[in-house]
Amino acid sequence: MTQPQEHRGTAGLRFPCGFGWGTATSAYQVEGGITANDWFAWERTPGSGTVDVAGAACDHYRLFREDIALLAELGLGWYRFSIEWSRIEPLEGAFDAAALDHYAQVLAACHEHGLKAGVAFHHFTNPLWVSADGGWENPHTVERFRMYCDVAAERLGAEIDLAITINEPNMPPLLGYSVGWFPPGIRNDDTWGRVNDNYLAAHEASREVLRRHTDAPVGMTLAMADWQVLPGGEAHLEQMRGRREDIFLASARDDDFIGVNTYTRHRVGAEGFLDVEDGIELTDMGYEYWPDALEATIRRAVELSGRPVIVTESGIAATDDQRRIDFIAATLRSVHRCLSDGIDVRGYHYWSALDNYEWNHGFGPKFGLIAVDRETQQRTVKPSGAFLGRIAAGGVLD
Ligand code: BGC
Repeated sequence: MTQPQEHRGTAGLRFPCGFGWGTATSAYQVEGGITANDWFAWERTPGSGTVDVAGAACDHYRLFREDIALLAELGLGWYRFSIEWSRIEPLEGAFDAAALDHYAQVLAACHEHGLKAGVAFHHFTNPLWVSADGGWENPHTVERFRMYCDVAAERLGAEIDLAITINEPNMPPLLGYSVGWFPPGIRNDDTWGRVNDNYLAAHEASREVLRRHTDAPVGMTLAMADWQVLPGGEAHLEQMRGRREDIFLASARDDDFIGVNTYTRHRVGAEGFLDVEDGIELTDMGYEYWPDALEATIRRAVELSGRPVIVTESGIAATDDQRRIDFIAATLRSVHRCLSDGIDVRGYHYWSALDNYEWNHGFGPKFGLIAVDRETQQRTVKPSGAFLGRIAAGGVLD
C-alpha cells in the first residue's frame, strides 16, 4: 500500500553533466537508393537467405533534415550515422563530389539543430568494385579503404564530433566468412582469420589518416556480448571470445575511445556455444532479452582496451514499445552501475533512430524510436523515443 510514496521520494539515477545521449543509423539501412554495393548484390543472390531488399529503405537520403529535426526535438544531443563508401567512391579512385557534399549537408543539419555528429566510415557495406576484387580477403582492400577515408575525411573531418573508422570490424568477418549469412557467404574459419587481420589493419591504417583530418576522438565500435561460461566451457570461451572480441579490444588500446555495441549474452559450455536458455524471454531477433549484458561488456571493454567507453549501440527489436522502454531503463541502470564504480562512460546511443532495414532479417524487426510507414515514409515518434528524450533532456532516469 505504501509503495507509491516510497517511489515519490526517490531522486532517480543522475547521469554526469555532458553525458552524450544519442541514437544511430547506418547508410544502407536507412538511406534508400544504394545500388553499387555488395549488399545490393547479396539481396539478389539466390540462396543468400535475405528476406527483403532494402530498396528505398527509410528514404533518409532525402528526408535527413526532417529526421535530424525530430531527434533534436526529442531532446537528444547526438546523431551517429555512416557514410556510404560506394556512393563516395563508386569506381576505384573516382570520388563523387556530390556524395561528399551530401554528407557535408547532413553534418551541417546536425549542427544547425544542436546535435553532435558521430560518423562511421564503414558500416558493413563495400563498393562492388571492392568485392569484385576479392573484398576483405584481398589485402589491397586495406589500402583502398585507407585512401577512401583520406579523401572523405579531408572533406568532412572538420565537422565531425566522433570519428568511427569501422562499425563492428568483428562482425562482417564472422558473418560473411565463417557463418555465411552476410556477403560473400563463405563458411571457412581460416578465411575468417585472414579477414579479421585485414579488418584490423584497415582500422589501424584509417585511424592514423582520420587523425590527420579531424580533432574528434577516433576509434571503432565493437560488437560485444556478455559471455557467460558454464563448467567445462572455459577453453571454448577463450577461443571464441578471443577471436571475436579480444583481438579487436587489444587494437583499440591505441584509439581515443572504445565504442561498445551490445544486444544480449552468450553462454558457452563444455560442448561449445549453447542455445538460448529455456524460460528466458526472447527479443524479436530470437536472442535472449538480457539488458544487464551491457554492464558486463562495458567492464570488459575497459579492462582490455583501457579506453573511455561510449555505448555506441544498445537496442531491442520489439513490436511492443513498452518492452523497449523497459529495455532502455534496464540498460541505463547497467551504465549507471559502471559510472558509480568510477568507469569513464561518456555516452549512450540507442540503436536505432528509425525502424529500418535489418540486413538479412529485412524490415521485420522493429528497433526504432521512430516508426516509419514504408508506403508514405511518414514518421511517428514512439513512446520510447519520448522516454529516452526526456531522460536525455533531464539527465535523470526515474
Ligand atoms: C549493427 C546494426 C544492426 C544492429 C541490430 C548491430 O550489430 O551495427 O547494423 O542493425 O546490430 O541487429
